Amino acid sequence: MELTLTRPDDWHLHLRDDAALLTTVPDTARTFHRAIVMPNLKPPVTTVEAAIGYRERILDALPSGMSFDPLMTLYLAPELSPSTIREAVASAHIQGVKLYPRGATTNSDAGVANLNGVMTTLETMAEVGLPLLIHGEVTDRSIDIFDREAVFLDKTLGPLMERLPTLRVVLEHITTEDSVDFVKAHPEMGATITVHHLMYERNDMLAGGIRPHLYCLPILKRSSHRDALIEAATSGEGQFFLGTDSAPHAISDKESDCGCAGCYTAPFALELYAEVFETHGKLDRLEAFASLNGPDFYGLPRNTDTVTLIKKESIIPLAKAFGEKEVRILRGGEPVTWSVI
Ligand code: DOR
Ligand code: ZN
Repeated sequence: MELTLTRPDDWHLHLRDDAALLTTVPDTARTFHRAIVMPNLKPPVTTVEAAIGYRERILDALPSGMSFDPLMTLYLAPELSPSTIREAVASAHIQGVKLYPRGATTNSDAGVANLNGVMTTLETMAEVGLPLLIHGEVTDRSIDIFDREAVFLDKTLGPLMERLPTLRVVLEHITTEDSVDFVKAHPEMGATITVHHLMYERNDMLAGGIRPHLYCLPILKRSSHRDALIEAATSGEGQFFLGTDSAPHAISDKESDCGCAGCYTAPFALELYAEVFETHGKLDRLEAFASLNGPDFYGLPRNTDTVTLIKKESIIPLAKAFGEKEVRILRGGEPVTWSVI
């Protein structure tokens, strides 16, 4: 069995920086032509100049003979000004601004504690049509971690969409049925869905032993939410598109007293998405999700070349070099039924 798709793109990706790029860039460029690159470096990417410099470091890490187009983002810090938004929209390489509620996840300390403080910047984004890419979780410690996404919709995103109805929004890495319903109720929005949130639910992470390599944010939810995500991803509906949120951390940073959030999925992401779509009898919808809906949402051309997958099992390597350390690959040591040729 063989499946040829328009070459896909990854609409939500963490590449990290420096030596890590030698691992992450080829792993993504092997199957994806473009990727929306997250700005949560240390320090975060808050200027057009920093984003362009980061893009050059990414391209420097690209092996010769491979093609890859990194689509850059800015990190919404409270001091990000409307003039930086205008500069970003004029740049050919910046496609969005990422909102991290302060304290929500990895390197979000410089994020936004209160949206009222960045309203002028958001108004400028609505005016110029630059998308806001949202990590949709509240950070209030009194809110249970499994409820943080749903509460964010009620308390933050709903009011924001009412206040700025023309702001273009992507709700990133959705994990709940509540988010699927919210997105469908706002037809102008987009949403990305990771492969790990399609493959796993919270029992996989916590029942019979704790599996730190499945710990990510937003955290895996109960299986009924996973089922709603599968339904949305395989629906072919244009609002839902592929975003791996591949987020590598060294093994020692995951297997620790206070382990980091993130799954390194890039090396076999497309093969794993194919497996999920096939399991649910929806392989014919994979191309819309992986290759068409994303560029259509962002107003970018669809890729013109293709990738081909064949039904051939291989074992995913357990780990690989990551700078001077190692990173575990999602599903490492286990088989995957599709291979990219
Ligand atoms: O699991 C995650 N890892 N979720 C995020 O929101 C951030 C990411 C990271 O950068 O490690
Ligand atoms: Zn992310």
